[in-house]
Amino acid sequence: MNIRNYCIIAHIDSGKSTLADRFLELTGTVEKRKMQEQYLDQMDLERERGITIKLQPVRMKHKEYIFNLIDTPGHVDFSYEVSRSLAAVEGAILLVDGGKGIQAQTLANLHLARQQKLAIIPVVNKIDLVNARVAQIKEELSYLLEIEPERILEVSAKNGTNVESILERVITDIPEPKKTSSSLPRALIFDSTFDQFKGVIAFVRVMNGSFKRGEPLKAFATGAKAEILETGYFSPNLIPSSSLSEGEIGYIATGLKDPGKIRVGDTLVVGEPNQSLTPLEGYKEPRPMVYASFFPENSDDYDLLKDALEKLKLTDAALLFEPESSAGLGRGFRVGFLGMLHVEIISERLKREFNLPLIISSPSVEYEIKKTNGEMLKIRSASMLPDPSHIQTIAEPIVDLEVITPSEFLGNVMELMATIRNRYIATDYLGKETAVLKYEAPLSEIITDFYDKLKSVSSGYASMSYEPKGVEANDLVKMDILVAGDPVEPFARIIPREKAYYEGRAIVAKLKEIIPPQWFEVAIQAAIGGKIVARESIRARRKDVTGYLYGGDVTRKMKLLEKQKKGKKKMKEIGRVNIPQDVFLKMLKR
Ligand code: GTP
Repeated sequence: MNIRNYCIIAHIDSGKSTLADRFLELTGTVEKRKMQEQYLDQMDLERERGITIKLQPVRMKHKEYIFNLIDTPGHVDFSYEVSRSLAAVEGAILLVDGGKGIQAQTLANLHLARQQKLAIIPVVNKIDLVNARVAQIKEELSYLLEIEPERILEVSAKNGTNVESILERVITDIPEPKKTSSSLPRALIFDSTFDQFKGVIAFVRVMNGSFKRGEPLKAFATGAKAEILETGYFSPNLIPSSSLSEGEIGYIATGLKDPGKIRVGDTLVVGEPNQSLTPLEGYKEPRPMVYASFFPENSDDYDLLKDALEKLKLTDAALLFEPESSAGLGRGFRVGFLGMLHVEIISERLKREFNLPLIISSPSVEYEIKKTNGEMLKIRSASMLPDPSHIQTIAEPIVDLEVITPSEFLGNVMELMATIRNRYIATDYLGKETAVLKYEAPLSEIITDFYDKLKSVSSGYASMSYEPKGVEANDLVKMDILVAGDPVEPFARIIPREKAYYEGRAIVAKLKEIIPPQWFEVAIQAAIGGKIVARESIRARRKDVTGYLYGGDVTRKMKLLEKQKKGKKKMKEIGRVNIPQDVFLKMLKR
């Protein structure tokens, strides 16, 4: 059988999932009556937000070929998912939004694909849009890829125009998987999931040999051993097959109950590998950019939270966490994320899928502290900052920032840049209309709301990407937030001293809006080293609104009340005001 393995790479919203829908229809993979939009985005959250969070593999038949397609996310936070997909395939469709043109993640993902030496099929999508700039984009792409503009396909994933021609190009342009003479089976794990009955299921690309049910399986890095329970492929549901052979993409069910035993990036082999067998090249370890602490509102739920995080980690290899304990909040976890969207998604999933009320701290980057006694310290939360009198310097992470914008928004983008700390480096052009601006900036300046602002000043056209660059000592201070006179540890944050007043005002104003009124007037204050820099107050509430408590199942209500009581106890430890989980979630967004 002829195999073609490929993925679609693009900036967010370029139409990858829509294009994948057309492929599924054209190849008859999904029955027409079962088809729904963005079929491969299977998580509720993905469908609601219209974004892809998880990579999703699917196998299709076209003519005498087997196509294995991996749909990847386009948002900068999830580029780790992209890099894993790229290691499992031989080619990539580079999809560009015909309305928006080349965007930051188009370039960043193209760069990754080139590093992997993948065949690239350039495609301009959304040609049905009246404002599509097809000719200009083709010119820019041909310059970027050093190819003739005629080689660039023009399609509408929405209407299906020309989509079939992409499938033809997949056959002609993407090489078939390399045949190897080795019969010693090796497979690269690019993702995993958990099934109650089948245990950990590894998503793999078979590089050599084949894998069959009943064979003894071993994972190279972790040394975990198992018997293969089942092999199969993605349709996109799991469909069992008699074996998985060289060049194929599919899954191997291991029966293992411990999620930690199967690691994304590890190599699976059959039997006991002899000396000559080496592991496949994995991926670079994901590097967290932001950290936030998660504490269960009810201390008895600590183990539940641990279990929930472990389950989420199975399908999200970039999620890292370590236990943490705090005097006021008890035991919890310090969790590392790739960006703010990642923080939001995980918090939201914990709330929805596990129903765990949580206290979530304001996100923080990792700071390097030099103490006056010469000791060095890395901290990932404002609450871990030593007393200011013991600090010599605080260094923060710096990134190389690339902003791509149509020239007409250049002025707006520059005005926006003036509102954050940064160093201008250079401007390049991709053709006359598209500028690529390069800066260095502290990570903390761009991870919160910078991306949203960039979108809004450029009518959605500008985009950005960034790479860690190192650390730099700056004048930073800890800002405490006091509610009714008590410091609320999860709200504390480290900020540039020059922004203390501005940040303080913004935070207390937001809290005033989202903390529900109490029986007494509540003061909200921002303080730096004991000095109040901003203040608001929430007026006392007037009427009791417990009407909804009457009627219904009494035992359930008792349980609920019992649970609330425990929650309240924890809240007392934080202060006199009950701060519901929603407030912490809302504070994650600016
Ligand atoms: P992420 O996975 O979140 O990066 O997004 P995506 O690249 O998968 O984009 P998606 O398929 O979700 O499409 C984004 C939006 O563009 C949706 O509203 C689609 O309906 C729309 N869209 C996709 N293709 C076309 C097209 O050919 N023409 C037009 N007019 N709209 C399109």
